[in-house]
Amino acid sequence: MKIAVVGTGYVGLVTGTCFAETGNQVTCVDIDVRKVEMLQRGEIPIYEPGLDVLFDRNVAEGRLIFTTDLVEGIKGAEVIFLALPTPPGEDGSADLKYILKVAHDLGPILEQYAVIVDKSTVPVGTAEKVSAAIAANAKIDFDVVSNPEFLREGVAVEDFMKPDRVVVGTTSSKAKKVMEKLYAPLVRQGNPVIFMDERSAEMTKYAANSFLAMKITFMNEIANLCEKVGANVDDIRRGIGTDSRIGKRFLFAGIGYGGSCFPKDVQALAKTSRDYNYDFRILQSVMDVNDDQKKKLLPMIKEYFGGDLKGKTIAVWGLAFKPYTDDIREAPALENIEAFLEAGANVTVYDPEAMNNVKAILGDKVTFCHTPYAALDDADALAIFTEWPQFRTPEFEKMGKLLKNRVIFDGRNLYELDQIREMGYTYYSIGREKVVPA
Ligand code: UDX
Repeated sequence: MKIAVVGTGYVGLVTGTCFAETGNQVTCVDIDVRKVEMLQRGEIPIYEPGLDVLFDRNVAEGRLIFTTDLVEGIKGAEVIFLALPTPPGEDGSADLKYILKVAHDLGPILEQYAVIVDKSTVPVGTAEKVSAAIAANAKIDFDVVSNPEFLREGVAVEDFMKPDRVVVGTTSSKAKKVMEKLYAPLVRQGNPVIFMDERSAEMTKYAANSFLAMKITFMNEIANLCEKVGANVDDIRRGIGTDSRIGKRFLFAGIGYGGSCFPKDVQALAKTSRDYNYDFRILQSVMDVNDDQKKKLLPMIKEYFGGDLKGKTIAVWGLAFKPYTDDIREAPALENIEAFLEAGANVTVYDPEAMNNVKAILGDKVTFCHTPYAALDDADALAIFTEWPQFRTPEFEKMGKLLKNRVIFDGRNLYELDQIREMGYTYYSIGREKVVPA
């Protein structure tokens, strides 16, 4: 099939590349000239494991091309994906200006029947708005379909190529056939393509992300309570995760969820519920608890240093909002680094992928280090914000020699308490007892 993807961010680039991989002819369109030039040179502007192999192969074989020209990009396309940003406005609602602008531009240039697909996370009712914006100037028949993306950064290619399910919102049987054909190669193992109306598909995406954010937040609250009653949240996780009704995933307590999706989507769903005069109380709590959770380490650090961080050096391991990405949007590390600096501390940092992005924001306010150990040299404490695998089995002895104090504040519960005890560290983590050296 011939496909166009408008917008070459995370979602658009993965969508375009993966559909090229299943044999389609894909043109990606973006208004950002520099980005398109970069892609045309074969450079990928984002860090996403596994994407490069597929990208290189499909570019080389001519199935994946890039342009800034919308007219050229959509020529002959049976399916046109809209994968455009929907940044949150002040009130938490998703801003549709980019999507509606492209919809408006599409009307007069469509030359044959096409299925226009909303791939971005968009509020309930957007498919209708997109449809109206296209119809205002269209000369031919078209359908607008909602097909929300569930990919996780870091494993986006795998999520795309082997989806748990595909959700498609459309009431048109013609569009349904096109979408079935397009997704057939990705669901050969029998994972479902679930058809529903457009509004339900739009709502499904918000429900999925809000539910997962709630699941994490529930565990964070259990962790907070564990600290008070003297229980261990890791054991609780194992104890409840084995109940198939609950499931093992997304039960890891920590320093709060971040990223480009959960915070934005929970906010947007809360806004939608306010718009419809529904008081969605759980959602508000999820947002409040997560805001507090992100600040959890600071009081622990202050407690350790007797309330004063002036002149202390805090080494930070992990800047990205989660491992396998360089994305720092809503990353707990950033907020905490700002708080450390404000409290008069110096900060040294290490992250395997996200340092350049942080440099662009913090400049020389913090010291960027080339290895995790370099960040510890002469630091007063270590604080961990991202569970990169390389932090999981560090050389505790070496760390102890570099650090001024054997103390770790762990926002991701990376270490077993017994292991830490043996190494003679003071160790603060989330939802578990504080370890102090004997
Ligand atoms: C998420 C959804 O998973 C995906 O389906 C959707 O399309 C976009 O949003 P992503 O933002 O890439 O994907 O990250 P994800 O792996 O889901 O993690 C989100 C946040 O939750 C991270 O900050 C992570 O650290 C946190 N998290 C996750 C926990 O704190 N505990 C867990 O058990 C799982």
